[in-house]
Amino acid sequence: MNRLGTERRFGVMPLLLSAAALLGILAPFPAMSPAVGQEAVPDQAAPPPPSAAAGYDHLLHRAYLPADFDQGVFDALWTVWEEPAKAKAEAAGVDERRRMTMDRYGLSPHPDDPSRTLQYVVDGAGKWTMSCLACHQGTVAGRVIPGAPNTRYALETLTEEVRQVKLRQAKALGHMDLGGLLMPLGTTNGTTNAVMFGVALMQHRNPDLSIVPKTPRFDLAHHDMDAPAWWNYGSRKRIYADAFAPKGHRMLMQFLLVKENGPEQFHAWEGEFRDIDAWLESLEPPRWEGPVDTALAARGRELFATHCADCHGSYDGPRHGPGRTYPERMVAIDEIGTDRVRFDSLTVKDRRALNVSWFAEGCKTEGIDAPDGYVAPPLDGIWASAPYFHNGSVPTLWHLLHPDKRPAVWRRLDALAGRESPGARADGEAAASPCPDYDFDRVGLAVEAREARPEGPLSAAERRTWFDTSRHGKGAGGHRYPDLLDEGEKDAVLEYLKTL
Ligand code: HEC
Ligand code: HEC
Repeated sequence: MNRLGTERRFGVMPLLLSAAALLGILAPFPAMSPAVGQEAVPDQAAPPPPSAAAGYDHLLHRAYLPADFDQGVFDALWTVWEEPAKAKAEAAGVDERRRMTMDRYGLSPHPDDPSRTLQYVVDGAGKWTMSCLACHQGTVAGRVIPGAPNTRYALETLTEEVRQVKLRQAKALGHMDLGGLLMPLGTTNGTTNAVMFGVALMQHRNPDLSIVPKTPRFDLAHHDMDAPAWWNYGSRKRIYADAFAPKGHRMLMQFLLVKENGPEQFHAWEGEFRDIDAWLESLEPPRWEGPVDTALAARGRELFATHCADCHGSYDGPRHGPGRTYPERMVAIDEIGTDRVRFDSLTVKDRRALNVSWFAEGCKTEGIDAPDGYVAPPLDGIWASAPYFHNGSVPTLWHLLHPDKRPAVWRRLDALAGRESPGARADGEAAASPCPDYDFDRVGLAVEAREARPEGPLSAAERRTWFDTSRHGKGAGGHRYPDLLDEGEKDAVLEYLKTL
């Protein structure tokens, strides 16, 4: 069993890491080489009005963290792959090999230059730096939908393989390479331990973001989360699964919390994050592209109004129009019954640390230090944000509506580059979808389902392609509200959910 496979991992961080090492890990910085294209820090006295278009541009082109690796490392990653992927890469030309490499780690081609990816900023010197889009920009049914989570990102596998190549090339290890040795980054592809990265980094800061001289002892309850769809940002007042944190451009900057980014650097970047905030607010949910049985969907709408709308709101008419409500309803953890590890992983103290900090404008905005469960998310564009629930444990809306038929173990049909996909679901039905990653019948990811993970030795890369709901933090139970519907009613609700 690998080190990440233990049931419950609480790392007593100070024993494992010095504060400096931890900060070095996830912390990147302004140490941004000039080659990254940094201009002079803008004058804070006269901030320009926020621009959504500029916000997207910053996400694509600005490196807010230190570089993770260089082009030479990226181009050699295939040399540490298992067979037959390695042999296929060796036989391929440079462009094809880069495509295979991106595919393996869940990266997609950059719109301006397909030899680069959308998820990393690559500078003129060939340095690759992770951006927000690493977790927050994926593809759905083969296309890039702005704000769709990257449900294929293989952060841990990428980091491990980068480390191996750097050792062979005698290159220095970066913050992620070291961080990945000290804490799990993501034990299933498409999900990450991002919440715990944030908690760890906050331990080293005072509310004004100055560095704490002596870090207190703290525990971390590692677990993986599915990033939420960004197009729902505009509907929410507070963010995250338990909606404890107030929204705002500063709150978006937590990911930059590294030692090298001192308080002044945060102030200097505020304007850019106002733009990014404006871009997030401007995103619209994607429309379903397949056929819809409108009579069935109309019946589903009625059923939804009776059984679901109290928590999820109503979706009649344009998004910000009068037919719309979104109650942002919090449901107590014992009532909702979905996996509670994320809920328990943050203490009142952890939440409070964020809610009194500079990120929350020093208490001026309303955070919730002691939420009692998870918030029912907006369901706009829900067809495009599979897998479902905060931990990404349920692959399709059909499975969400059939709590007893949710797969115990599953993986996407397009799981590993260079492997033969089984092409059919374990229940014997052929996948009807023309897209290898999307199931248009069940609405969500096209998956292979099993009772248990395959026997026999699996490489770490392959193990992470399986979502095993028996693991810590990965439970797929709860949210049994669909039990009140019969089979025909579930079909109608499924049809209606396509239209949101
Ligand atoms: C390593 C993966 C990762 C990176 C990189 C990342 N995020 Fe996230 N993000 C997540 C996860 C996971 C969540 C869900 C956390 C939760 O609900 O507790 C999240 C939640 C959010 C949310 C809340 C959405 C909602 O509706 O609740 C926003 C907004 C957000 N991230 C913005 C950003 C921005 C801006 C950046 C870059 C500065 C960024 N993220 C970088 C993984 C990531
Ligand atoms: C009592 C409140 C409540 C009711 C009633 C309810 N839900 Fe939910 N729903 C939630 C909460 C809370 C979550 C988030 C659970 C989690 O992520 O762990 C959720 C999650 C979901 C999700 C997954 C969202 C995502 O982004 O992953 C879908 C889809 C959904 N509900 C559909 C429905 C439908 C359809 C009904 C009616 C049959 C319904 N819900 C009834 C509270 C409710």
